[in-house]
Amino acid sequence: MAAMKNDIESVLFSEEQLQDCVKRIAGEITRDFAGKEPVFVGVLKGSFIFIADLMRHVELNCSVDFMAVSSYGNKSTSTGAVKINKDLSADVEGKHVIMVEDILDSGLTLSYLTKYLQQRKPASISLVTLLDKPARRKADVKPDYVGFEIPDAFVVGYGLDFAEKYRNLPYIGILKPSVYE
Ligand code: IMP
Ligand code: MG
Repeated sequence: MAAMKNDIESVLFSEEQLQDCVKRIAGEITRDFAGKEPVFVGVLKGSFIFIADLMRHVELNCSVDFMAVSSYGNKSTSTGAVKINKDLSADVEGKHVIMVEDILDSGLTLSYLTKYLQQRKPASISLVTLLDKPARRKADVKPDYVGFEIPDAFVVGYGLDFAEKYRNLPYIGILKPSVYE
């Protein structure tokens, strides 16, 4: 852990701030989906810690499913096509789908996934993202629930990685540019 800490420039959100944020969003979802049984869909891998914490504070009958995606080569292509590595394991026709992402950056991933899931005829699709970097948006995606807006910096921890590392940090921190330069 000491070595990992040395790669962090500064802590953006502490464990306590993250938990307060998770509880706030869970409360909003509990209120907005009262009487419904939504399906939470986590976008792997980055959202795994957030969705686990979030669902624990949602007071509704609900289920969970996961999708795993990777971007096709150059992310700056205008199509934003993503490769589906793992699809939903159950049908969502007529269901209220709540997509859960770790971070909304260009928006290409969520824009593609939303269109893809729309074909399954869900009753509704809502988007939750823990972090939002609006400065870098390319696709027209508007999240329904946002944890925190952040500046254009590369962040890790609480599920977010750089080269598969740092997901296990309990807080979110800005990675030192020297790590990836
Ligand atoms: P986009 O919105 O399609 O550009 O992609 C969002 C995805 O890019 C996220 O799910 C993350 O996997 C990754 N990503 C974007 N910014 C960061 C960051 O600052 N740290 C870690 N992963 C990031
Ligand atoms: Mg991700």
